[in-house]
Amino acid sequence: MKHAGAWNMLTAAVCVALLGCLQAQELQGHVSVILLGATGDLARKYLWQGLFQLYLEEAGKGHSFRFHGTALTSTKQGQEVIAKVLESLSCPRDTAPGRCAELKAQFQQLSEYRRLKTPEDYLALSKDIEARVQHEGLQEAGRIFYFSVPPFAYADIARSINSSCRPGPGAWLRVVLEKPFGHDHRSAQQLATELGSFFQEEEMYRVDHYLGKQVVAQILPFRDQNRKALDGLWNRHHVERVEIIMKETVDAEGRTSFYEEYGVIGDVLQNHLTEILMLVAMELPLDISSSEAVLGHKLQAFRALRGLQRGSAVVGQYQAYRGQVRRELQKPDSFHSLTPTFAGILVHIDNLRWEGVPFILMSGKALDERVGYVRILFKDQVYCAQSEKRWVPAQSHCLPQQIIFYIGHGELGSPAVLVSRNLFRPSLPSASWKEVEGQPGLRLFGCPLSDYYAYSPVREQDAYSILISHIFHRRKDSFIAMENLLASWVFWTPLLDSLAHEVPRLYPGGAENGHLLDFEFSGSHLSFSQPPLEQLVPGPDSAPMPSDFQVLGAKYRDSPLISAWPEELIARLAGDIEAAAVRAVRRFGKFHLALSGGSSPVALFQQLAMGHYGFPWAHTHLWLVDERCVPLWDPESNFQGLQAHLLQHVRVPYYNIHPMPVHRRQRLCAEEDQGAQAYAEEISTLVTNSSFDLVLLGMGTDGHTASLFPQSPVGLDGEQLVVLTTSPSSPRRRMSLSLPVINRARQVAVLVMGRMKREIALLVSRVGREPRKWPISGVRPDSGQLVWYMDYDAFLG
Ligand code: BG6
Repeated sequence: MKHAGAWNMLTAAVCVALLGCLQAQELQGHVSVILLGATGDLARKYLWQGLFQLYLEEAGKGHSFRFHGTALTSTKQGQEVIAKVLESLSCPRDTAPGRCAELKAQFQQLSEYRRLKTPEDYLALSKDIEARVQHEGLQEAGRIFYFSVPPFAYADIARSINSSCRPGPGAWLRVVLEKPFGHDHRSAQQLATELGSFFQEEEMYRVDHYLGKQVVAQILPFRDQNRKALDGLWNRHHVERVEIIMKETVDAEGRTSFYEEYGVIGDVLQNHLTEILMLVAMELPLDISSSEAVLGHKLQAFRALRGLQRGSAVVGQYQAYRGQVRRELQKPDSFHSLTPTFAGILVHIDNLRWEGVPFILMSGKALDERVGYVRILFKDQVYCAQSEKRWVPAQSHCLPQQIIFYIGHGELGSPAVLVSRNLFRPSLPSASWKEVEGQPGLRLFGCPLSDYYAYSPVREQDAYSILISHIFHRRKDSFIAMENLLASWVFWTPLLDSLAHEVPRLYPGGAENGHLLDFEFSGSHLSFSQPPLEQLVPGPDSAPMPSDFQVLGAKYRDSPLISAWPEELIARLAGDIEAAAVRAVRRFGKFHLALSGGSSPVALFQQLAMGHYGFPWAHTHLWLVDERCVPLWDPESNFQGLQAHLLQHVRVPYYNIHPMPVHRRQRLCAEEDQGAQAYAEEISTLVTNSSFDLVLLGMGTDGHTASLFPQSPVGLDGEQLVVLTTSPSSPRRRMSLSLPVINRARQVAVLVMGRMKREIALLVSRVGREPRKWPISGVRPDSGQLVWYMDYDAFLG
């Protein structure tokens, strides 16, 4: 009884502290929030406000709180900064001024600043929390550590928390991490491993603040609540394209040391825009509140993303950027940053739902407006016989049909969900979303606002406040799971690598950009619509431009050599292959083409897929020159590359496609499965004299061709048409056409591209026929013709 009395008194005391005793329920435990980097920019701008919001929402529901702002700053200085921040906090709009002052005072009382630097400081903090909990007769519910610090500080802090600041048994620990999480796949993996040695995955909350934006957070619920209307629409048959856009007017001044490392792709596309892409593209789980189901479906969508190529992106840099970098990073005038501050990316998703639908991702600094949105534009397959003046927005299928998740800013000035009236009336939770009031004269995406059903949040909330509340409520679906993070880096890293030396297009910034950054796409290729502003007048010392060269006709190893800049070269080769195909079909009724894999032919495949309408695909047989011993669906498979870049865009009859049988009886290239013999038989049966009409080869930096490698006699002579070989690099097991069958071809084309091939190209130009050392030197068609196609980088260096 004595205890009960004391308990009542204590409850009463706590209630006084908590929001003037707002219907306090049973006490659920004490929560400590430790904000690391509490005096920094993000904390001052958003996090303290988010914590205040958390306090307002939760304190009356039974938890007690204490907020520890921490940093490396001295106690006195830190306290001053925090005092100022706390003073500037704002209350919900409908709070009376007196009440607001009261609430702020309560929050201020529960907030403190302390310097947190050494492991001892962490231990002291832990002890203080324990002492307070004990002293006040409370139970500890848990601790939230919010890392608002640069990533290089993560490991030390994590170690200190883990070793001396974990709560005792029965209480939870949550650590909140801010991006950047690495700058490529490897560094993200490293960081993940490091943090994983201190915390469980379930303890980590990786923030992408875009997931806290009200409209972004509404994408899945919107899809869920409108399943009936969307089921038939949300797919490649109806969606023309999807645009995921974040435009900013600000530039990177003051942040160039960060920006130099990440650029717009690492800063925005890899995280914010990719997350949005997933929310739009993933299959909808039955239960969207299950974070496991959401993650599973996201990962599935990640797996269906088609790999990005250099040609999937256009990049730009605002003109003032390099000056800012030189100033802020003390670089000499000769320093030229190649960091993109603008990027447009074309993404394709190779699955049944999205095959062929372009997803455009775009973001940039120093643009003409600040706005963010996702626009899903539906196909227009209607011809309207009636005059435009009779079109009625709610019924007419002649007007554009689109769904827009308007994230914020822009002409509308607030977040909103817009659905064209001629699509369907959407359902949104009426307690939190209201219809937008008309704004006469306002046009969005080509239509007056009145053409849309438009909804905006009843109460606009900042993303960080929402996320902080979700951390408290353990809503893990609003955060980035490690697998999700790594999948995103797997997708972006190859593009970042291929752009590393790309010179971005310079743009003046703001409205002056005009149409300079407009871009267009065709197939999987993206390019700026306009030529660059500068007039490129090659001076005496300047590097040669593509237009300075003609396609060069010459000889290489006594065979014809075509040399040109890459685009021209590929165009020429594609034209030659088409001509050979047309000739062969005219004479024999079919064309047998054997293709190599790897990266060089990708551009050729794309070119053939895009521009060669006269190609007799229906009469073409496609064979593989070589294959890696991986399943055919593996991204490393040559067949997979052929499939992604060519086969899925052209109409080759299915029975004319001849992948190499590397995967038989669920085994890869087992001798006893006789895959090589089976392929050889197929060739002998279908190809007259086993003589292909055209064989396309490449040349490796070690002089290998097909999968015939130096220092190995396999496949260099003899009767075998197809052989199993071993590559020095992974995957090591290969299947390959043999040199004799290659040399039996009517035509052999060898495509050699890139500066990396310069040395071997030079060497091979001088050597005789020594296939054991350089298998490529053994390529000499018995009676056919050999032509070398080399770009200037390979040929001239
Ligand atoms: C951040 C980026 O993640 O998002 C910034 O680092 C960018 O470069 C910011 O300006 C944009 O966020 P918001 O909420 O202003 O759209």
